[in-house]
Amino acid sequence: MKIFEAIRKDHDIQRSLCDELVKTSGDTKFRKSIWEKLKKELKVHAQAEERFFYVPLIEEDMTQKHARHGVAEHHEMDELIEKIDEAEMDGAAWLTYAKQLREKVYHHLEDEEHTFFQLAGKVLSEKEKNNLEKEYRAYMTSGNAGIDVSQGTQVS
Ligand SMILES: [Fe+2]
Repeated sequence: MKIFEAIRKDHDIQRSLCDELVKTSGDTKFRKSIWEKLKKELKVHAQAEERFFYVPLIEEDMTQKHARHGVAEHHEMDELIEKIDEAEMDGAAWLTYAKQLREKVYHHLEDEEHTFFQLAGKVLSEKEKNNLEKEYRAYMTSGNAGIDVSQGTQVS
């Protein structure tokens, strides 16, 4: 498997969690569990992606701008995540921010999949694409070690 497929798989998880999140309502256990899963998923993915995808690409002229843009968007998502955490879960603002986060995540993933991946495909060697996937996957697995993603419960 190459780095692109690994990232795309995780992007699909993010998209479906975002979709589920905006369908929830009120201060409920269910909303809380989807929110915690999505937050964890976004956080660990951004860390892994910055280390094992953006870092090698920030050094190349062709992809530098896109890698920087991606990091900036990760920061924007972090800010929205904070806003959601500070809002009352059963208030109207909470869902408004959650919808904004969903929009931002979708936009960011589309940017990566449609533009950035194509350029990165030209810049990285086949060996790098495979090695980065292994490192990315190992980081994602260790980052999620304390959480059972299918249940959203702490197992450690
Ligand atoms: Fe990203």
